[in-house]
Amino acid sequence: MSKENRFHSRQYLKLRLERKDIDDDPFIQFDSWYTKVLEAEIDFPNAFVLSTVGAAGVPSSRVVLLKNYDEGGFSFYSNSLSRKGRDIIENPVASLCFWWPEFERQVKVDGEVSLLPEQEVDKYFASRPRQSRIGASVSRQSEALASRQLLEQQYEQFRSEYKGKSIERPDFWKGYIVRPLRFEFWQGRKNRLHDRFRYLPSVEGGWSISRLYP
Ligand SMILES: Cc1cc2nc3c(=O)[nH]c(=O)nc-3n(C[C@H](O)[C@H](O)[C@H](O)COP(=O)(O)O)c2cc1C
Repeated sequence: MSKENRFHSRQYLKLRLERKDIDDDPFIQFDSWYTKVLEAEIDFPNAFVLSTVGAAGVPSSRVVLLKNYDEGGFSFYSNSLSRKGRDIIENPVASLCFWWPEFERQVKVDGEVSLLPEQEVDKYFASRPRQSRIGASVSRQSEALASRQLLEQQYEQFRSEYKGKSIERPDFWKGYIVRPLRFEFWQGRKNRLHDRFRYLPSVEGGWSISRLYP
């Protein structure tokens, strides 16, 4: 069997999704699925694929961790000088994609990106373990690095320089929040007849919900 064909017969049989099961409010719907994922104690429940696209129009994706969500949006932390950070400056939009195989569920959230208030970011940075704060401070995320050894040297140098001192958040380390303009909830189903519901902002306020072909 070729590597590609091994997955042809995979079926999605665990759950189903009807219009009556989903909430009119996509934030409540997200919360309901996310709560189940947390209860199931799966690995990395908060990991999602973040896609950005800079001025050149070339998309780029990577996994990041969700730090918080509420009606204001979905937030994460990163280095603003990274590829994603630069993309967001050039074009402040992003697409988030969660995949929870244990539930055969996918959630997509597309929206506008803005920076979290500095105070909030400072507070979160200060709450992180010291080693992570040092790691974040010395990483020139997404830049070419001559060797692993250099990175470890820079870590050690920073660590000894700051011994006994507090480590402030570096200015390039930012918090981002994505304000959703579109949601999609996907439930895997038998014979590839998956259930999909899309939420778009409606003109009257609130959200308009459509079932989509799988
Ligand atoms: C499970 C997991 C969690 C990650 N969480 C973050 C995160 O929260 N923030 C971050 O900047 N990078 C995170 N990364 C690293 C990113 O995937 C990526 O390598 C890095 O941010 C550089 O991306 P860029 O060059 O596209 O900007 C994570 C990677 C994995 C696999």
